[in-house]
Amino acid sequence: MKRETAAPVGIIGGTGLTTLSGLQITGQREVSTIWGTPSSCLSEGVIGGQKVVFLARHGDPHRIPPHKVNYRANVQALYDAGVRTVVGVNAVGGIHQEMGPARIVIPDQLIDYTWGRASTFFEEDLTHTTHIDFTHPYSAEARAILVEGARSAGLSVSDFGVYAATQGPRLETAAEIVRLERDGCDLVGMTGMPEAVLAAELGMNYVCLALVVNWAAGKTDQIITMADIEAAIDEGMSGVRRILEVSMAPLGALTHP
Ligand code: HPA
Repeated sequence: MKRETAAPVGIIGGTGLTTLSGLQITGQREVSTIWGTPSSCLSEGVIGGQKVVFLARHGDPHRIPPHKVNYRANVQALYDAGVRTVVGVNAVGGIHQEMGPARIVIPDQLIDYTWGRASTFFEEDLTHTTHIDFTHPYSAEARAILVEGARSAGLSVSDFGVYAATQGPRLETAAEIVRLERDGCDLVGMTGMPEAVLAAELGMNYVCLALVVNWAAGKTDQIITMADIEAAIDEGMSGVRRILEVSMAPLGALTHP
């Protein structure tokens, strides 16, 4: 049974998206949750008439590495703020031949290779064990809205892809990328999990908007440099912002489970 929501849309900004220009900020709140303090304050505002709550995944300034992010606090803080649909923006490495630097990808599946992260809300004080369905980790409706938003903005994006969530903070070896490719992965990043599953545990719609910032290790003869990553962010992040702008109102109209 679905019901209407007038909830704000949550945006979790990753590397290259610590602040959201275009967001008319109406308030900034320091919050805490039963899981601790989120990575940044919540910036509340409006984009295209839609209420939005923005959170910087790595803090503002960017200081929290992927394996140290308090994903539970971040997702809970958005939930407590009334958010029921979340866009996770992720910088990633490209494995699929179509997914080179500055390419925007809206993946449809993921494989989790992370370890040692607090990855569930359901582990203490339980009256029964909970196994949520996670067959489709990303909301099909929210994905369709982002794809259509990109199309209407005249941007070419990849509307498929298996996201490999790796532990980091180091990048992968070439052999690890060969293994990920053999596993069926198309893109690789360090922050996609457990964020997606935590949102699912709270019954939220979750979608990933990924920007490829480098070819994954071993995909070219070059090593991966921060300068190249920053250049791809500069080239691609304006498209990400544009897709966010045009997608906010339809995302805000989504129902949730
Ligand atoms: N691997 C993992 N995470 C990443 C990469 C990568 O190549 N690029 C950006 N985030």
